[in-house]
Amino acid sequence: MATSFSSTSSSSSSAIASLVCVCLLSLLLGHGILRVEASHKVYRHLQSSESLADSSADQPYRTAYHFQPPKNWMNDPNGPMIYKGLYHLFYQWNPKGAVWGNIVWAHSTSKDLVNWIPHEPAIYPSQPADMNGTWSGSATILPNGTPVILYTGINPANQQVQNIAFPKKASDPYLIEWVKTPKNPLMAPTASNMINASSFRDPTTAWVGPDGRWRVIIGSKRGRRGMAILYRSKDFIHWVKAQHPLHSAPNTGMWECPDFFPVSTVSPLGLDTSSNGPRVKHVLKVSLDDTRKEYYTIGTYDPSKKDVYTPDAGSVEGDLGLRFDYGKFYASKTFFDSAKNRRILWGWINESSSVEDDIKKGWSGLQAVPRVIWLDKSGKQLVQWPVMELEKLRTGRVDVPSKLLRGGSKFEVSGFTASQADVELSFEVKNLDKAEKFDPSWVKAQDLCTQKTATVKGGIGPFGIMALASKGLEEYTAIFFRIFKGTNNKYVVAMCSDQTKSSLNNSTDKANYGAFLDVDPAKEKLSLRTLIDRSIVESFGGEGKGCITARVYPTKAIGDGAHLYAFNYGAGDVLISSFSAWSMKKAQIN
Ligand code: FRU
Repeated sequence: MATSFSSTSSSSSSAIASLVCVCLLSLLLGHGILRVEASHKVYRHLQSSESLADSSADQPYRTAYHFQPPKNWMNDPNGPMIYKGLYHLFYQWNPKGAVWGNIVWAHSTSKDLVNWIPHEPAIYPSQPADMNGTWSGSATILPNGTPVILYTGINPANQQVQNIAFPKKASDPYLIEWVKTPKNPLMAPTASNMINASSFRDPTTAWVGPDGRWRVIIGSKRGRRGMAILYRSKDFIHWVKAQHPLHSAPNTGMWECPDFFPVSTVSPLGLDTSSNGPRVKHVLKVSLDDTRKEYYTIGTYDPSKKDVYTPDAGSVEGDLGLRFDYGKFYASKTFFDSAKNRRILWGWINESSSVEDDIKKGWSGLQAVPRVIWLDKSGKQLVQWPVMELEKLRTGRVDVPSKLLRGGSKFEVSGFTASQADVELSFEVKNLDKAEKFDPSWVKAQDLCTQKTATVKGGIGPFGIMALASKGLEEYTAIFFRIFKGTNNKYVVAMCSDQTKSSLNNSTDKANYGAFLDVDPAKEKLSLRTLIDRSIVESFGGEGKGCITARVYPTKAIGDGAHLYAFNYGAGDVLISSFSAWSMKKAQIN
């Protein structure tokens, strides 16, 4: 789907053919519909046109506690780490406009992952190896405690190469200045290494194997086979490509932003990236350029033998695989927080609005809240939960006493700021007799949720909340569950996020999202936590087993016009066993 232009692909033999090419290219570029190999839409004429919008004004869609730059375009989180007690987040940023382009590594730091201060961009084009771009990458803390950054540079031939940057002053906890070596690039496509020069990017955090050598993977593809190319190094400067990729999968296309990390099978605590051993499994996540969705597998990795990663039997690769988030969430990256022994996940949430609207508001792109991530007890999936530091923004708690929510009813929960809130509730379904039979042709929960929106009556469900709802319900974003009878006396639980009524503005993308939750409603409560932040609705179902993030742009349900309802439009009754809502204070975000 991505139209691409690479340095190697367009040499044409006749002058006429190249003239036609050039004309076609400028026509397509002129209309802003060509995509470079980084797969972002390219609007050449808008890349460097500063918006007149004042992003510091209290715009209704700017967030109160989700990370965003002071203005302009942002995409991938880069090089997250903790250093000398400070959290660092770098990110792909356009200093000149609200669309993708002119990308540098912008930089912010925080003491608590909630309040952030901005710094000058840390990495920007400054040498031949990155003249045409400083794209995504990761930080690694070396054994002596100093961090280094590996990132993708775009060289003058528009080839993707891997470069290194070091802190200028390791004594500075803010790591303001970064220097590069003239030895860059450290890894590059050559005539002999078979690497596709326009699909070779986004190095991970490196890890050490039992032989003392460093390893790093870089996203790539060969034909339609997506792959994580493995490199090894003794000194972090000289890197040698391994014969085999760490892992690859047919028909998945380009793997952007791979992430590879260990998880404990016995504890929710996080592990340092080089950890391995008997009670450790590994996770490989990749972001699929073709579909703009991510998937991950859990598997085994033995660095002493073949140095390959093998997903567990039964793992699904590609779009039907497991996802960190079943809504808007891409180019994610984890890091090990050594101060609190947890692994933290960052992910980019792009807009659902039109480019015209993005330019009008002067910015585009958010980060999801940082989430702790660990292996579920079942060993079959990961679980996520917003970092606990976020809870210090909670204020003015409202509790709803336990209450039966009859089929076909709804009620409003008020007394808090419904446009900027944290809502946590749980349901119990005592009688599941009315559950409809699950139709196994619903392979993707998203398809089910697209067809069965919040107002489509079911047996058990839909029940949940309507967030960012206007008083007359002309607008709302519904997050809800439906329970079906599956095979072998098992129930199937679908969690949906329904955006169809999220805004009266019809130029926004209102696709619905869905996830199946591995929860047994006959034995367990069904919990939901939803973070509402003006234009973002980020939900965690089944205690973090299913996450769905949506971007919405209400026109009436903004500020005091926003309300929250609990509803049950199924035939059967459900019990709300707990319900708490908090207003969220504004964090200092850049
Ligand atoms: C993912 C991505 C990366 C690339 C970066 C460029 O969104 O395309 O593969 O390094 O963005 O901004």
